[in-house]
Amino acid sequence: MRILLVAPPGAGKGTQGALIATHFDVPHIATGDLLRDHVARRTPLGLSVQDCLDRGELVSDEIVLDIVRAEVEAAKAEGRGYVLDGMPRNMTQARAIYQIARTLDMTAQVVLHLVADDDELVRRLLARAALEHRSDDTEEVIRRRLAIYQEVTHPIVEWYDQRGILVAVDAMQSVDRVGRQILTALEAMRPLIKLVPDSARQSIDLTGLGKAFGNH
Ligand code: AP5
Ligand code: MG
Repeated sequence: MRILLVAPPGAGKGTQGALIATHFDVPHIATGDLLRDHVARRTPLGLSVQDCLDRGELVSDEIVLDIVRAEVEAAKAEGRGYVLDGMPRNMTQARAIYQIARTLDMTAQVVLHLVADDDELVRRLLARAALEHRSDDTEEVIRRRLAIYQEVTHPIVEWYDQRGILVAVDAMQSVDRVGRQILTALEAMRPLIKLVPDSARQSIDLTGLGKAFGNH
């Protein structure tokens, strides 16, 4: 499976990305984790992006695209798919990753969009801050990350919707319920993905499922 996770900060990209990666035995490529690893190791790249990460601003497209290109090439060499978490973040990245993946015959088959309220996202990230001490988990920087998401990242969701490869999930439910809905949807789609061209597919909106069953 080749999956993109597009969602705001705190919606569960890392949590659900890890679950999907284990379930489908694909690498979990998380741009934020890869960048933070560079910062922790004080590599030249890490030193150059640290300020951006601390302030919640996006790192340059070239830097993240180089990182992701190498990771997708490695997945291809191993004959595996991927779950890509945190990329693309804007329209330039969306077009660029599509071109890179097309060259490798590795374009995404599903784009998972996790939907959650800002108040809940802030609550989750402040709760995480008490445990993990991420430099960007202060209330001010969290609000900045959410604003950037709304301004430049969320518009790409519409692009994937038009391409018919979007699956939207209600991320306000428990971690377990969100995970079960994602894996159920992906397992149901898996046999069809290979047979049905993108142009003949339609996006799927599962955000009403939780409410429909009255179980959050
Ligand atoms: P990145 O690391 O991608 O951070 P983010 O998008 O701000 O998202 P988070 O990692 O904070 O949240 P998440 O959605 O992964 O949620 P999680 O599962 O952890 O990016 C960081 C920075 O790197 C960016 O600001 C930018 O500077 C740079 N960057 C990265 N990619 C870039 C790119 N492509 N271009 C340019 N710059 C880039 O969950 C959050 C918390 O909530 C956890 O504690 C979790 O346990 C909890 N939780 C999860 N799900 C639930 C649930 N259903 N119910 C209750 N709690 C839950
Ligand atoms: Mg994350």
